Amino acid sequence: MTKNKNNQAIWNTRVKKKTSNLFQKIGNSIDVDKRLYKEDIMGSIVHVEMLFKQKIISFKIKNKIIYGLKKIEKEIANKKFEFNKKYEDIHMNIEKRLFQIIGEEAGYIHTARSRNDQVITDFKIWTRSSSKEINNLIDKVMTSIINLAEKNIETIMPGFTHLKNAQAISFAHYLMAYIEIFKRDKKRFNNNLDNLNENPLGVAALSGTSFNIDRNYTTKKLGFKRPTNNSIDTVSDRDFVLDFLYATAVCSMHISRIAEELIIWNSDGFNLIHLSDKIVTGSSIMPQKKNPDLLEYLRGKSGSIYGNLFSMLTILKGLPLSYFKDLQDDKEIVFKSKDILTDCLQILNEVLKNINANKKRMLELANLGFTTATDLADYLVINHSMSFRKAYQKTAEIVNFAEKKNKNLNELTLEELIKIEPNLTNDVLKVFNLKNSVNSKKSYGGTSFDNIKRMIIKYKKEK
Ligand code: ARG
Repeated sequence: MTKNKNNQAIWNTRVKKKTSNLFQKIGNSIDVDKRLYKEDIMGSIVHVEMLFKQKIISFKIKNKIIYGLKKIEKEIANKKFEFNKKYEDIHMNIEKRLFQIIGEEAGYIHTARSRNDQVITDFKIWTRSSSKEINNLIDKVMTSIINLAEKNIETIMPGFTHLKNAQAISFAHYLMAYIEIFKRDKKRFNNNLDNLNENPLGVAALSGTSFNIDRNYTTKKLGFKRPTNNSIDTVSDRDFVLDFLYATAVCSMHISRIAEELIIWNSDGFNLIHLSDKIVTGSSIMPQKKNPDLLEYLRGKSGSIYGNLFSMLTILKGLPLSYFKDLQDDKEIVFKSKDILTDCLQILNEVLKNINANKKRMLELANLGFTTATDLADYLVINHSMSFRKAYQKTAEIVNFAEKKNKNLNELTLEELIKIEPNLTNDVLKVFNLKNSVNSKKSYGGTSFDNIKRMIIKYKKEK
């Protein structure tokens, strides 16, 4: 018979009365943190190996505990494990089960350890691999972006500022802007790795331990880079959680911007892109409708993800150092954000594989709104030795004239142009050609076709 009776909480000797049913119901976190079972078991195995190496527990006990833990891992993986809310969280559920499997010697597992360092160890390992998972998904999205860009290097569309036609650009150039965005998103997740690579295990409740533990050993075995320096900071710190939530929020904000842009381009007014039937939904009343619901889902989800970042910031505000129950919510918040972002990245990838440029309409719209006006001003500076301000003024006069005549710039004749600037020759007409306009933007990072091709090669090399 084990002293640690299975229907009792671990602290039952001290806390005489049964925890109120209501608190047991709401204060437990097992439904959320059972997701950490693998990390928890891995951490425990390394912990007992270290205890044995340091001669704190015997070879026999170490092996028994590891045997029990591995059995528990299998039980959970095969859905044979019975999680019990009474034991609060994943750590206590596993420990309780260990007692059932190997008996009283299970009591050695928690030597020189507290749930305070245990939970952060698990959570850091989880956050580290989740950051990598997200970065892999971002990579897939980037590959889809590149594929679409490669098909659209010479697809000319209007570039907008203030959502008004500004200058002609290549659709691929636009798409390559998203590449830069996602490169930064990946960096943001990677920036957190340095903190995630500090091993919390061994700081125990808050002050360290009197046992002769070897934190460098557990650091190495659990894939961390170094042990944390201060036991109090270690159990209090949730900066790695905030950084993860922030990186998630920024990435979801980017997805939201892209989604909104695609929604606008897909609208009947713009009609610049076509969404395949795979990514639209119908209306329950209007038989003709094809709605971009998936894109709206992507646009909306950043709301919940921002909320999660703010929840965590608010939980931490004013919280004194060391562990408090307030911190338990961190996992639910992070898991939710990670799951939402995972869905969003997968959906975005699907969207990118299912959109086509409406090339004819893109070109048509790119020619409206006097989008080559800046090219004309540049031409006047280069060929007619004007200052840019002077050329700007002359061009504005030409635009006013074209507007009055209800013409696009490329519909003006040389005779008409000469009325405003007598020195002009036939040569000027080439600046109103959209392809010339796009290809003239050869400055580093500009939209010329050659630049885009170079950028695609550069991206592929860096990958
Ligand atoms: N389930 C707890 C949490 O996630 C584990 C840490 C409990 N520590 C404690 N002193 N109650 O925060």
